[in-house]
Amino acid sequence: MLLSCRRLHLPSLVLIWLACSGVAGGTSPLCPASCTCKPSDKGKRRITCLAGGMTDPIPTGQMDPRAEVLEISAPEDRKNWLTVTTIFQASKNFNISKIYSRAYKQLALHFKHLEELHISNSNINQISMHAFWGIPSLKILNLSVNNISSVFDHNFRGLVNLIELNLDDNRIAALPTGVFKHLTELRTLNLQRNALQELVPRTFLKLVKLHVLRISGNKFDELDPEAFKEIPVCMIK
Ligand SMILES: *[C@@H]1O[C@H](CO)[C@@H](O)[C@H](O)[C@H]1NC(C)=O
Ligand SMILES: *[C@@H]1O[C@H](CO)[C@@H](O)[C@H](O)[C@H]1NC(C)=O
Ligand SMILES: *[C@@H]1O[C@H](CO)[C@@H](O)[C@H](O)[C@H]1NC(C)=O
Repeated sequence: MLLSCRRLHLPSLVLIWLACSGVAGGTSPLCPASCTCKPSDKGKRRITCLAGGMTDPIPTGQMDPRAEVLEISAPEDRKNWLTVTTIFQASKNFNISKIYSRAYKQLALHFKHLEELHISNSNINQISMHAFWGIPSLKILNLSVNNISSVFDHNFRGLVNLIELNLDDNRIAALPTGVFKHLTELRTLNLQRNALQELVPRTFLKLVKLHVLRISGNKFDELDPEAFKEIPVCMIK
């Protein structure tokens, strides 16, 4: 084997390498046991984990880092128990203070192609600080049907291209002023069936592109128009 390799010219070696990586590109060998990994109907690299019974940590180390769509959910009777931390970033021991250093750009971002992240039926009760920093490619974040009771602006930092955020069917009781202020590209925001009683002034600060806001199924008595002051005329349901 070694001998025959030695006789190969460099261009042939490159061709063999390309052929091999081409094969690997079709069905990725990197796929957690309880998930399926095949292209979506739109041809995106998709990882789908629907079996349920999943506990922390989400097995990102076994996932193809080129994934574009990751969907984690569970059957009603076999829910997951997950937390959302900085798992989608390159280094496991990611140190947030490094973000502010010059070296930040050199950090090999892990899931740098991820466009859609759906985690539902997973009993998530909070999102950790800067959880999604390092995946600026994200366009859709869907954390519906969980147990999230509070959200803060630092939860959404770094999501500079997010166009849709779905927080339906959680237990969010209050939203601080400017909680979505890092989501300047957001078009659709879903907050249906939570436990909101009021919206404080400037709740939607900086959401200058918002088109659709869904807030039905909460416990509002009346809505303060000041809450909506910052956003363009949009469809509010
Ligand atoms: C994070 O980095 C800063 C500065 O480099 C250092 O002082 C701090 O101890 C680090 N924290 C952790 C948890 O490693
Ligand atoms: C979000 O997750 C819910 C629950 O799994 C699903 O019904 C919905 O279609 C998902 N997609 C988006 C874009 O919100
Ligand atoms: C949701 O979280 C609360 C604590 O914040 C906990 O008491 C409750 O049991 C959780 N609900 C479920 C269904 O896990």
